[in-house]
Amino acid sequence: MDGRDLVCSVKAGGSAGAAQRLRTVRAAWRRRRADAAGLPPRGAERARVPGPVQDVEPGPGGGIVRFSRSELRILVAVNGAVFWGWDGAGPEPSYALAGRCPEPDPRAVLEPDKDGGWRVVAERVTVAVSRHGAVEVRTPGGVTLRRDLPPRWWEPVGGGPARWKQRSEVPADARFFGLGGRASGPRLRDGAYRLWNTDPGRPFAPGDDPLYLTMPVQVVVADAATHLVFHDTSWDGTVTLREGEEGAGSGHDRPGTCELRMDGGPLRCWVMVGTPARVLLAWASLTGAPALPPAWALGHQHARWGFGSEQEVRRIVAGYQERGLPLDAVHLDIDHYDEHQVFTVDHERFPKLPVFAEELRRQGIRLVSIVDPAVKAASGNAVYDGGAALDAFVRDASGELVQGVAWPGEAVYPDFTHARVRKWWGGLYAERLAQGFSGFWHDMNEPTSFTAFGESTLPRSARHSLDERGGDHREAHNVYALCMARAAYEGLRELAPQERPFVFSRSGWAGLQRYGGTWSGDVATGWPGLRASLSLVMGLGLCGVPHSGPDVGGFDGTPSPELYLRWFQLASYLPLFRTHASLRAGRREPWEFGPDTLEHARVALVERRRLLPYFMTLAHLARRTGAPYVRPLWWGAPEDRALRDCGDAFLLGDCLLVAPVLDPGADRRAVQLPRGLWYDTATEQAYEGPGQVLVDAPLSRIPVLARAGSVIPVRGEDGCLELEAWAPARGRTGGGLVVQDAGDGWDEPEVERYTARWEGRRVIVEREGEDGVREPSHPVRVRGLTARRAQT
Ligand code: GLC
Repeated sequence: MDGRDLVCSVKAGGSAGAAQRLRTVRAAWRRRRADAAGLPPRGAERARVPGPVQDVEPGPGGGIVRFSRSELRILVAVNGAVFWGWDGAGPEPSYALAGRCPEPDPRAVLEPDKDGGWRVVAERVTVAVSRHGAVEVRTPGGVTLRRDLPPRWWEPVGGGPARWKQRSEVPADARFFGLGGRASGPRLRDGAYRLWNTDPGRPFAPGDDPLYLTMPVQVVVADAATHLVFHDTSWDGTVTLREGEEGAGSGHDRPGTCELRMDGGPLRCWVMVGTPARVLLAWASLTGAPALPPAWALGHQHARWGFGSEQEVRRIVAGYQERGLPLDAVHLDIDHYDEHQVFTVDHERFPKLPVFAEELRRQGIRLVSIVDPAVKAASGNAVYDGGAALDAFVRDASGELVQGVAWPGEAVYPDFTHARVRKWWGGLYAERLAQGFSGFWHDMNEPTSFTAFGESTLPRSARHSLDERGGDHREAHNVYALCMARAAYEGLRELAPQERPFVFSRSGWAGLQRYGGTWSGDVATGWPGLRASLSLVMGLGLCGVPHSGPDVGGFDGTPSPELYLRWFQLASYLPLFRTHASLRAGRREPWEFGPDTLEHARVALVERRRLLPYFMTLAHLARRTGAPYVRPLWWGAPEDRALRDCGDAFLLGDCLLVAPVLDPGADRRAVQLPRGLWYDTATEQAYEGPGQVLVDAPLSRIPVLARAGSVIPVRGEDGCLELEAWAPARGRTGGGLVVQDAGDGWDEPEVERYTARWEGRRVIVEREGEDGVREPSHPVRVRGLTARRAQT
């Protein structure tokens, strides 16, 4: 959204736009006044460090190390994750954890270390604590993966939350990833990254930071091992990263550094060590398995701010159908609401939405509804009245309702950090289900309040329940959208128990995957925006949120046919494949860019549909293992340094490598291959990795390579499942997993396991079971048998 859109979207035109502008001025002053009254100035501060060690108290999974001015709790959990918390902080309460803190590992013991320090030795990791409170994470082989220097706090003399700083060192060869959705990743280069969910207020490109979904999760990849560190605090903060340098000054390595400065909240963290797959598994076991989308949500979706009427939606749907283009869902934006009010319908423009929705559903197309958290502050609005009766809306420190500005004008904000409010809000989705919607698109939930100046969110002094602990917006802001997603997910589970909820949310925090996915937000139309789209999806996947995708074509303006097509091609291999654009933007339908673009887009749509069983399998595997569908190239080979630096291609599951075209005018591109044999799926040409190869990338397609030996479930022409096997390298075997899904519901399908091997000049695919191997019950097509081998 940008300022012009804001004005434009107010249907009544100029004077209404001016009225909205005036509201944003008033709201900005109100916010400033609320904070002046509600947040005492910090005043003088006292600095503190832990001081020297005094004594220890062994406990389950570790114990407590006491220093003269703080104490450190260490706990190794059975899933191999390590927790430590300063000033006695424990793992709970936490918005990130999926349930209770995992059980302590009884084998992990606290024992004396050298120089008066202590250490906890566990199976996969050793945590060593120095006499002055430096904490080191070491591999079982003794290599240091992370060294946290003693932290430092600044406490207001008059009381109040302490600010703190934690400086850490990582190996010189390490690379940083994560921190939520970052436009300039996936490798996070030297710089400062803020942890405060932010609507940038205009279409963003690489360099715009922070964005809508931040989280204090870093994935650090080094030769010795990969580790994930999560600082479990939702307060505003900044992470400053600096990559290290090997053989810097006089031949010594300069370590990489990370400095975390937080405005408040507990200083506590979780660390997981191992291979990338192990780390993500531990992370998912801690913060929750990714929700399984219904099958239709893995298909192609078309959205638009400003369809404006049922006729226009019909026109778009007919456009897809007449041209034989697959379409699985249509999204209705705020323009289908009655005067932009959430949980309402403009009955003039969408007169019989349930009937229309049913008609679409019969044609295999679902309707998805935008849901904004801000509620028009007007009695007579049913949601406002219902919420007010429950005292559901955020208040300021003096007890007044916090009034912000959103699409419907003056608005109030539900306090989703209160269980009672979540329950009420979750129940409101009954209205959406009755209108025929099948999926929910949460927007503006950073939360955003339009403002003439200052921050476009609620006052920091605004009060929140924080699940009855009580606190203010400084702590609640970053978990606001997470709690909104929880409200929707839990409400939908009750309202439609047979169906898997499909919720995706612009903002969120660690653990969002339990309830659904996310999307890029308003990515700027342009080649840099295309690149940012991929960066966001990869970064979020590494933070445990595997389901996301961009606005195909970018949110604003009009992409060139080439840019549109390249975006379309990339997104057809991403979990969320959705075209969307702003009210003022140019068209985004595949037929609006000329006949060639249409034909190439058709190929991408048809291929997406063919790959749906593979996407569904990846969704099941994500749920069971935490592994994202879209993985950086180093996923299986973190020791390959060339791959670590490569962010312009990705692995889609174990089988495919997708190399999108991210620059104009390209008809081939360089691809950095992981080790092994890879086939260009279009030409069947074989390439041997590791190394860089040049592959064809004509306008008609982006390079997609299949790993030799892969067995991939695909949809055959008759709609039935088929297995596409890629010949293993000679002398090697291969295989793949298939999870056949009913499309929706909660049945637990089994994981089918296939192997591929050479027998003479044939490749045999067999299904592995407890009682040996047998012939697959699906047709098998072997490819790559006559592949030409290219030199790398
Ligand atoms: C925000 C969303 C965008 C949506 C618009 C209107 O800008 O990010 O996707 O179209 O609001 O609801």
